[in-house]
Amino acid sequence: MKKRIALLPGDGIGPEVMAGCQKVLEAIAERFNHEFLFEEGKIGGGAIDAEGTPLPEQTVALCEKSDAILLGAVGGPKWDDAPSHLRPEKGLLGIRKKMGLFANLRPVSTVKSLIPASPLKEEVVSNVDLLIVRELTGGIYFGQPSGREGDKVVDTLEYTKQEIERIVRKGFELASVRRGKLTSVDKANVLESSKVWRETVNRIAPEFPDVEVEHQLVDSAAMQLIRYPEQFDVIVTENLFGDILSDEASMLTGSLGMLPSASLRSDGFGMYEPVHGSAPDIAGKGIANPLAMIMSAAMMLRYTFNLFEEAQAIEVAVQHTLEEGYHTKDLVIENGQELGTEGIIEKVIEQINEENTIK
Ligand code: NAD
Ligand code: IPM
Ligand code: MN
Repeated sequence: MKKRIALLPGDGIGPEVMAGCQKVLEAIAERFNHEFLFEEGKIGGGAIDAEGTPLPEQTVALCEKSDAILLGAVGGPKWDDAPSHLRPEKGLLGIRKKMGLFANLRPVSTVKSLIPASPLKEEVVSNVDLLIVRELTGGIYFGQPSGREGDKVVDTLEYTKQEIERIVRKGFELASVRRGKLTSVDKANVLESSKVWRETVNRIAPEFPDVEVEHQLVDSAAMQLIRYPEQFDVIVTENLFGDILSDEASMLTGSLGMLPSASLRSDGFGMYEPVHGSAPDIAGKGIANPLAMIMSAAMMLRYTFNLFEEAQAIEVAVQHTLEEGYHTKDLVIENGQELGTEGIIEKVIEQINEENTIK
């Protein structure tokens, strides 16, 4: 199978984790006889420095002609004080919006060997298997007006009913092929948009009689996520709530460096990006955890290319690498062996090649 993959490494640790991810995909291509054609584009701070804009036209053109997109991370202190249209993050928001990637899937599940790395108790994190379905192209991130005028500053939380309906439907569909439970997270005790969100969930629910539906207010959901995370199967929520809850949920796995994501539109096209950011505090040190990026690539193989065996080969390789005790610095595990970004990549690739020999 021949596939064109756009690589947008971005800033900070983005290029470090992307380099490893590309190597892993090359190992998969070789083992399973595929041809992945990689082409790199600029986005974020690097694009601002080189082209004066966080999302150059060539990058959009590259994404449009590709079969899928892999994105590292954008941002960094260098651009923190820039006006909002010249912030790296604008590039990321822009490409999500431009490509119509409204459904952001963020799976969070326990990896047995990482249980001791979580700051939470073993009994709390040992059976976590949840999926956050985050709306990605609407809400307060995109509503207008947004800006400053004199003493006043405004951001607007805006959704159309159609935007709410399509993400809620996605949540139901995913719950129906998982454990059949959907938790809709909102702030319906305060926000009008959340009231419409809740009404929408209740209106669609009868179409999915096998899915048990529950509503939680976001403040309480944040608490439940660390009190009893096993209760969750699929969580569907709006853009900003999903952003915040997913970073919180990452600690159930032990590190933000473990969470992958898929940003999808309805035809299956997707951009695959780790949940974490550019981690300026560790950039350039060769210690970033590349596993969120690598597992995002596995999601790409599964969701956009329907290459299930190949996706699983990556996931199994990652799991075995961790089971053998290898990990990056962000994961604190007694008796483990700490490696840098490249060291972990090598181990994962060894596992991929080894699985091949066993078969
Ligand atoms: P961050 O996710 O970059 O980092 C938070 C903490 O987690 C840091 O201590 C970092 O070292 C650690 N961390 C994150 N990923 C890691 C990895 N793979 N391996 C090891 N440790 C990891 O969040 P932040 O520091 O709040 O933001 C930094 C910049 O990244 C900001 O400019 C922000 O806007 C941007 N950001 C970008 C994305 C994205 O591109 N998708 C996502 C989040 C934040
Ligand atoms: C994420 C990030 C982005 C978001 C930022 C960098 C715009 O935090 O992907 O989770 O808020 O969506
Ligand atoms: Mn985030």
